[in-house]
Formats: sequence, structure tokens, C-alpha cells
Amino acid sequence: MTKSLTIKQPDDWHLHLRDGDMLAAVLPDTAQHFGRAIIMPNLVPPVVSTADVLAYQKRIMAALPKGMNFTPLMTAYLTEATDAEDLAKGFQDGVITAVKLYPAGATTNSASGVRDVMAVQPVLEKMAEIGMPLLVHGEVTDSDIDIFDREAVFIDRVLDPLRQRLPQLKIVMEHITTSVAADYVQSGSENLGATITTHHLMINRNHILAGGIRPHYYCLPVAKREEHRLALRALATSGFSRVFLGTDSAPHPDRAKLMACGCAGIYTAPNTMSCLAHVFEEDGALDHLEAFTSINGPKFYGLPISDQTITLTKQDLPMAYPEMITAGDETVTVFDPGVDLFWRVDTLV
Ligand code: NCD
Ligand code: ZN
Repeated sequence: MTKSLTIKQPDDWHLHLRDGDMLAAVLPDTAQHFGRAIIMPNLVPPVVSTADVLAYQKRIMAALPKGMNFTPLMTAYLTEATDAEDLAKGFQDGVITAVKLYPAGATTNSASGVRDVMAVQPVLEKMAEIGMPLLVHGEVTDSDIDIFDREAVFIDRVLDPLRQRLPQLKIVMEHITTSVAADYVQSGSENLGATITTHHLMINRNHILAGGIRPHYYCLPVAKREEHRLALRALATSGFSRVFLGTDSAPHPDRAKLMACGCAGIYTAPNTMSCLAHVFEEDGALDHLEAFTSINGPKFYGLPISDQTITLTKQDLPMAYPEMITAGDETVTVFDPGVDLFWRVDTLV
């Protein structure tokens, strides 16, 4: 039985760090294991311009504890008022790594998102021209579309036509949750990738709703039926080169989760690597863990693979990790995978 596994240092290709006390509280949980992360721009107000991105990057670096190495890969939030030249310059200067498309109203802090993709066509054309990736929250927001169908309908109505209009545009389907999206990314060309979260590999919609409502499992896109979780697992553990880890670790104060209208987001940064080792071992695919967490992402983004490694060690007794963390006056609950975890991240060399 494998007891120890050394892999290239992982990166997180979809992460929410927030700002202020929350940023200071959650950043070390990511930086202790991950070398880089794609930082989501959905602050209030959103991070829309190159100047906003630079300022946010500075706040992140100022919050990083001394002695920790971590590179935030910054994104800008696409709006119908985005200045294509400003973002192009930010990309060419190495300040911005990618642009994030939120359909307006799709998720937390997405009110300034895009209502009509045709309205941002000139920005997308510029991005295609310079090789700047578009990261897509792939859900339609129409109130008449069932929430469990919103990803599949988005692929059909928005993503596929967009890819036909702009075949050269590099696109990442963020946090895919269905077999439809899993099939779609595999059938795509070299410039189509997808991220999968830790939690969508471990929970289905029963975890949220059966036997009582569990707000800490509520996120967007919402977890789907078991058959979809299994399709995501099969894809992630296959080592398929255009699919990689994006935890979508999204901290919210417990106060905001535990209310009549609780917000979406699961905080997985502290135990993600332990969860993933568990999942990949369960599926007999520990040899593909490194591809998913550390190789496929940088390759897709055209960035170097880490020259650091981490070692995961399987211990005999279940691992202890905090149920919650504190951020200022608030608590944030850590993802409960519902199983004991035995793989701990041992050393960072
Ligand atoms: C994210 C957040 O809280 O910012 N929430 C979530 O459920 N994933 C937004 C997002 O990525 O959709
Ligand atoms: Zn997210």
C-alpha cells in the first residue's frame, strides 16, 4: 500500500481570497500548500481594470506571512464597460493572467457581470488576438431554467456559439459540475480547458438536501446528481491533460451562510490536498494526482511547472484539522468531506 507520495507543488486554478481580515485569514491556508493560484476578482466592488488588479495584487502580497512563497495570478472581472486596451496592456505587462466572465446574477457578487455576451465581443476578439484566456462561470441565469440545468443550457446557448464565433479564444470552463460539461471539454480543441473543484468530486445534491438542509455544502454551480459526480471523478482521475484543479475555495462568514437566504461558497483551502489524495486513492489513480493538481494547469496556461515538491503521507489515524477558522470577528467553516482523511501534506521542499 502506498504510504507516501511526492509530487510537484500544486497550484489552484480558481480561488477566492476576498479582502481585509478575510484575506489575511485565508491566504496562509492556500499558501502553505499551493505555489500559485488564479485569484477571482468578484470583490465588492469588482476588480475590473488593470489598476484595480495591481492594487488587489499588492494587498494580497502585503497579507502574505513572511517566509511563505506564493504567487497570485490575477484576473480582471469582465463587464459590458470593460476597456479592451486596458486589459490587453495589463496582460502584456504580466499583471493580468486572465479575464473572468460572470453572467450577471449567476453567483456571489456577480451583479456587474455580463448580460449579453455579444456586448463584450470586441473585448473577446482582442483577447483571442493576444492569447489572453477567458475564464467562464458557465451558468445561464434565466429564472425559467431549472438551477440544476443551468450549466448544460449555458454550454448550448452561450459557450458553444461563442467558441464557433471565436475559435482561437482560449477558454477555461470553471468549476464544471455535470457529465455534459465533462464530455464537452473532452470533445473540445486544445484551447478549451476546465477546472474541477474538490467538493464536486466528493458531494452530490443529496449531501445538501437529504435529511436536513446543509448550508455549508451549498455552492454555485450547485452540486448535481451522483451520476454527474461520478463523471467528474472519472475525468479528474483519468489524468486528461486539459482538466485541472480549481478549488473554488470560497470563504463566507458562517453568519452569512447560516441564514434564511444563505450565500453560496465552500471553504476547502485547508484540507483540499488531503481530500484529493483520498479521492484519487479511492479510485486507484494516485499516479494521476500530480497531473490534476500540478502539471495540467501550468501546461494549459503556458506557465512553468513548479520546481518545488510536496510530500503527502498516509497516516494510520485520521488526520486532525480545524472545523473552522476565524477571520476578524467571524468564523468560517472548513469543508467537511464526510469521511475521515488520512493523507497529510508533510513537507514543502
Ligand atoms: C463563489 C463566491 O463565494 O465568491 N461562490 C461559489 O459558490 N462558488 C462565487 C463563484 O465562484 O461562483
Ligand atoms: Zn468561484
